[in-house]
Amino acid sequence: MTVTLQRHGAIAVVTIDNPPVNAVAHAVRQGLMDAVAQTENAADIRAVVLACAGRTFVAGADVKEFDMPPVDPNLPDVIAAIEAAETPWVAAVHGTALGGGLEIAMGCHYRIADPKARMGLPEVTLGLVPGAGGTVRLPRLVSADLAVAMVAGGKPISAQVALEAGLLDALAEGDLRDAALAFAASCSAPRRTLGLPVVGKTDPEAFDKTASDLRRKARGQRSVSVAIETLERGLTLPSADALAEERATFLSLKASDQARGLRHIFFAERATLADPRCKAEPRALTHIGVVGGGTMGAGIASLCLMRGFAVTLIERDDASAEAGAERVRTTLQGSAKRGLLHDHAGALARLQSATTYDALAEADLVIEAVFEDMSVKKNVFAALDAATRPDAILATNTSYLDVNEIAACLKDPSRAIGLHFFSPAHIMKLLEIVLPDRVADDVVATAARLSKSLGKIGVFSGVCDGFIGNRIMSSYRSEADRLLLDGAFPSEVDAAMRDFGFPMGIFEMQDLAGLDIAWAMRKRRRAEGKLAGNDSRISDRLCEAGRFGRKTGGGWYDYVDGRAQPSEHVSKVIDEERGGEAMMLTQDDIISRILVALRNEAEALIEEGIARSANDIDVVMVNGYGFPRWTGGPMFSARRGS
Ligand code: COA
Repeated sequence: MTVTLQRHGAIAVVTIDNPPVNAVAHAVRQGLMDAVAQTENAADIRAVVLACAGRTFVAGADVKEFDMPPVDPNLPDVIAAIEAAETPWVAAVHGTALGGGLEIAMGCHYRIADPKARMGLPEVTLGLVPGAGGTVRLPRLVSADLAVAMVAGGKPISAQVALEAGLLDALAEGDLRDAALAFAASCSAPRRTLGLPVVGKTDPEAFDKTASDLRRKARGQRSVSVAIETLERGLTLPSADALAEERATFLSLKASDQARGLRHIFFAERATLADPRCKAEPRALTHIGVVGGGTMGAGIASLCLMRGFAVTLIERDDASAEAGAERVRTTLQGSAKRGLLHDHAGALARLQSATTYDALAEADLVIEAVFEDMSVKKNVFAALDAATRPDAILATNTSYLDVNEIAACLKDPSRAIGLHFFSPAHIMKLLEIVLPDRVADDVVATAARLSKSLGKIGVFSGVCDGFIGNRIMSSYRSEADRLLLDGAFPSEVDAAMRDFGFPMGIFEMQDLAGLDIAWAMRKRRRAEGKLAGNDSRISDRLCEAGRFGRKTGGGWYDYVDGRAQPSEHVSKVIDEERGGEAMMLTQDDIISRILVALRNEAEALIEEGIARSANDIDVVMVNGYGFPRWTGGPMFSARRGS
């Protein structure tokens, strides 16, 4: 039974048990409807506690049902029945009350929560708006300023914030169920949320600012502005009209391409580690070594400390070790300030730095993040082979070098793996887990578990130049270069891709990163005979002229007071390299040529066995490279024909 009813004297406890996250599937809706009827008909029941089994309160509607025909009873009707009950209902919230879960809790007459609980309306992140009264009941409990952040921002709030704002009536001290039973015993009559007046805007300027910030950050995702409009109706219309409009908006968004794309990414992200190799027993991990205290190494070290690991940071001398440790301390402090790190002192206490590899004798895993050069990496791996326990895992953070070649330095190559973090490592969600040919299954399983413990979305990649993400991005760069030769200018290519939904154009991105790094790499590869074609001739000429990007005041653009402007110098170089007539290229031509190039490269990665699936590629591009999330990623949108 997904919904059960138990008696505690005059109090009925209705428990939802639908693992893993108590999503409101059809059986739950029907069970709640039945529970309302049962408790209303029992004259001796004075109050009802609504609780959930397992790790969380209801985490939302069942997203899997969204692509199926709807089956009654629908959630708005269930919530209306609870709200209309004559017996008071008290929601007892633990874990997360999200989406439909919070809407159910708001349909109850009172709410009590575990102090660690969180609650929110994340529908907007799935391309939706709340569909069961969220935008109508929430502004009757909290100020409109908070409601707009929750409805259009989608981020959950803590139980403390919810209590202060009016969303909760009490926090449980001690056991939640006992506290909820005691609370219910004191309730004499229902207090219906829809019967309360709208709280309104306590600070209209703050409301407008939150709304406009969220609209600006939406980057083409429609649900954000629709959520703001829906909430505005919740604030102003009579509740019955607002509820009807909200439901209609929800249903029309649910069928939209953007919502389908976001649902695809939601499930694709949760399937990336479903791999037979992850069934092996992972190795124990408590102590992690990081070699290299530069931006990347310090970022990885900070992340591991924030997630509870002990970290030893290795640098070549005392001054560099201290500089690396200082970078880590700065990152930890920033994270603590932003509320991302609760045990700041504990994290600092777990950090050690050293200048010799013997400090890693007891490490369970070592991640090297030294200079991106094969011989430097090989030296580090050879030294680690001698200094570490034979069962310690040795990982490289390389972003394109051959991990098989690095692994071959070890007596036992099966303990080598690639962990490609993205900068800043403590923020970016993606982790490419690069699997060399001889990696042991339990090393793969350990890396997968580490990725979860670090809060990352781990995606497996085979070994190739650049792995999944960088290889696709280099096809983007090459196509962008070809577009210049065919007739477009950098600002046109960038504007088209920004319009498509990327946060930044490819040429702006190169200016920010610095053109010199890629130039040095090209020169090295040409010398090694690994680079064919002449696509980057324009970029070479900019570098030869000292135009390395923002840091030199010019690259693909000129920078005047920090603002990018099209450059005459660059236009002249492009004209000369073109040598012939320029083609007329529309924005659509530019976007579709780049998308085709990305997808061709993605297909090649699947054929070569580098990527496991098109879904994994979507996850990589969306989480690591700014591909707009609402498209569902390059492969999903290609399948849909856009
Ligand atoms: N509907 C259907 N399935 C859901 C779901 C939902 N609303 N929320 C989570 N799941 C499933 C996941 O697909 C996953 O399934 P799997 O084990 O088969 O892969 C499982 O529940 C666990 O989810 P996961 O995200 O891996 O667990 P977590 O502990 O890291 O996070 C939540 C739990 C609830 C915070 C997170 O799942 C979440 O944010 N869910 C979406 C909530 C939401 O957007 N609700 C509004 C819907 S309109």
